[in-house]
Amino acid sequence: MIKKWWQDSIVYQIYPKSFQDSNGDGIGDIKGIINRLDYLKDLGINVIWICPIYKSPMVDHGYDISDYYDIDPSFGNMKDMELLLKESEKRGIKILMDLVINHTSDKHIWFEKAMEDLDSKYADYYIIKQGKADTPPNNWRSIFGGSAWEKIADTNKYYLHLFTKGQPDLNWENKEMRNELYKMVNYWLEKGLGGFRVDAIAHIKKDFSYINLPSDGPDGLVDAWEYYRNAKGIEVFLDELKERTFKIYDSMTVGETDVKESDRLVDFIGENGCFSTVFDFCHVTYHINDDEWKNNPIEMVNEIRDKLFEKQLNSIEYGFLSNFIENHDLPRSTNRFIPENEIGFYSESMLATVYFFLRGIPFIYQGQEIGMMDFPKKSIDEFLDLATYQNYKAYLGKGFTEDEALKKINIECREHSRTPFQWSHDKNSGFTTGTPWFEINPNYKYINMKDQEDKEYSLLTYYKRLVKLRKSEEYKEVFIYGDFIPIFKEYDGIIAYERKDDKQRILIINNCVNKTSTIEIKENIKKTLLNNYEEILLDKENIKLLPYQSIVLEIN
Ligand code: GLC
Ligand code: CA
Repeated sequence: MIKKWWQDSIVYQIYPKSFQDSNGDGIGDIKGIINRLDYLKDLGINVIWICPIYKSPMVDHGYDISDYYDIDPSFGNMKDMELLLKESEKRGIKILMDLVINHTSDKHIWFEKAMEDLDSKYADYYIIKQGKADTPPNNWRSIFGGSAWEKIADTNKYYLHLFTKGQPDLNWENKEMRNELYKMVNYWLEKGLGGFRVDAIAHIKKDFSYINLPSDGPDGLVDAWEYYRNAKGIEVFLDELKERTFKIYDSMTVGETDVKESDRLVDFIGENGCFSTVFDFCHVTYHINDDEWKNNPIEMVNEIRDKLFEKQLNSIEYGFLSNFIENHDLPRSTNRFIPENEIGFYSESMLATVYFFLRGIPFIYQGQEIGMMDFPKKSIDEFLDLATYQNYKAYLGKGFTEDEALKKINIECREHSRTPFQWSHDKNSGFTTGTPWFEINPNYKYINMKDQEDKEYSLLTYYKRLVKLRKSEEYKEVFIYGDFIPIFKEYDGIIAYERKDDKQRILIINNCVNKTSTIEIKENIKKTLLNNYEEILLDKENIKLLPYQSIVLEIN
């Protein structure tokens, strides 16, 4: 395997709107990130991924870009960005920006010109089709709900938007458009970025057969995934993108794409793939409050474990996956995986340990390291995200009552992870001196960074220990390049694996449920590298794992 600089990355994801406000307007900004770089350095991470900060009307919170070459004024300006790059570099931290090139904003100059003149070259930068009689070209559903087609006023033409109607999809079949994108990507790489997290990239290739499919819901629409997710031929576009941009700069790139078939991973990661790595999404649909799992935490753990191990084993021969438990599109991990009355230090540190030593790149999402939680709302009006409203409407359409629909939204909505960062128990959690753009979770009084900073047994301190161990000179080789071997699969509720190379063998053992479990270890324990309890209950070859206990052992 060719060694690359990014293989030892520990990435921290910043949702800039909610990270740190520096000027009292209630919106997090680039200067706020600069002010917190020392915090991140102390945490030990060496790469930051920042969600979009380009100029945007903010219909999808920055994922709708109206100017790729400018910073949105709510986040600062280009000087701030350049300073951020410089200050990060001083601290040995690389910056990844979000690269949103499946679509632009409908306020992007290309789209405006396209709408002004449907015969102009810009019309072909987007996907515009003739409607049928008075209906859209087909019955595809947008990923955020409703038709994926928007009618263009005074015509019988429609443009495609797989996300909100403020995010028209780009036509990747158009070479000139692609060249424009590559120029823009290189402009940013020239500025010294480490690379990109590449948004929604699985959707750039569309199957243009546009037939109506049998609908799968009361709205008459259909999720036509096979027509616009990793569609055949996407690898040609991905390859060109890499050759013309990322490869020239030896960038780190993280594709937001769920590659289901392992034999296709080779197109996406590895020495000839387009990206350095792609996310492993195998756990994202699980929620302990779903009817299916409510009383079955052990079954849920067992099922997730099997999927996780399958992904790990399938990816080894190709390259590295990116491992995460939280991001800005998901509720908080504790609420998703742990029954409510069992959320606490042990269960939280266990979740962290499970994924941190897997083969691949570990990601930490802002606030995860201090145990930030979901903030359920009393009324649908308290939410701000269009996707939330679309999902709510879809539940009503399926016959749910308003209360039932709100309950569903409170379980699954992505806005939970977007509440402002809880820095301290001071006013507005130390996030802003003004009025926060989104309500702060009132639990900041007892869940905040300041209170955990210097405590020996806080979650934050535990995360620092995790990072330190994974980065340590002594063990980093085995954690990065070592084999991955599933172990103890015969025990319910346990997720355990071995990382191994010629020199070392490390066991990572996690009791993922609220009961004790005794496992038998035949190997000789050389050293305890990590433990979220104070001791390990060892009796001859038997280890009694306490509820939610996680241990990392070196054996020989
Ligand atoms: C990605 C982003 C999500 C965004 C969508 C559209 O899935 O993570 O937040 O809404 O793309 O750009
Ligand atoms: Ca601000």
